[in-house]
Amino acid sequence: MRLQKFLAHSGVASRRKSEEIIFAKRVKVNGEIIDNPAHDVDENDIVKVDNRLVSLNEKNLYYLLNKPTGVVSTASDEKNRINVVDFIESDERLYPVGRLDMDTSGLIILTNDGDLTNKLTHPRYELPKTYLARVRGIPTPKELEELQNGVLIDGKKTKKASANIERVFKHESLVKITIEEGRNRQVRKMFDYINHPVITLKRIKIGNIDIGNLLEGSYRKLKKEELDYLKNFSNENR
Ligand code: URA
Repeated sequence: MRLQKFLAHSGVASRRKSEEIIFAKRVKVNGEIIDNPAHDVDENDIVKVDNRLVSLNEKNLYYLLNKPTGVVSTASDEKNRINVVDFIESDERLYPVGRLDMDTSGLIILTNDGDLTNKLTHPRYELPKTYLARVRGIPTPKELEELQNGVLIDGKKTKKASANIERVFKHESLVKITIEEGRNRQVRKMFDYINHPVITLKRIKIGNIDIGNLLEGSYRKLKKEELDYLKNFSNENR
């Protein structure tokens, strides 16, 4: 098996990240630094990352976390801030599928299945993601239509989206928006474009997987049908 695949299967990181780790010369096979992702390894080889032994992991784990705001969604953070992985009580090395901004709350998937992560985070096959955005003011039907048809952010038009007002307050409103891309701070930038800046943002759905009544900071295992859905999605969209 390719070294890169070995690392992903072992839960070290996604395939793409594993490649970076290999290129960074952080991987030793039988005591020798190997910087070739295609290097052939099997279970008899001693593979170490940053001098820590890595072994093939047959048990894949999948969790859903309701991320609170103020938490970073990287598995390791150079500033040592609290991150999404800290919430899960597991001895396995888990990492998040995609990311949410520190100031965004809501659904995030954590797993040690590098292959699935790799497929689900491929920019060409993004799952639809649904957010509840509390925004300043009340967008007009024309502004919502702009969001739906695509607006220019960072010099590039956003793909078709759906956006509907859920609730109206005196000076604010709650808008449900579904996008099929994951560009940097995309939802916030889309609402900035129509001059209704986001006050709070929460992801409530990934594909058809719904946050339900999972409390902030709580997590649960993915249900079998949810995992089947994700696997089917990633296979259909290869
Ligand atoms: N869009 C944003 O602006 N932030 C997120 O965290 C996710 C989508």
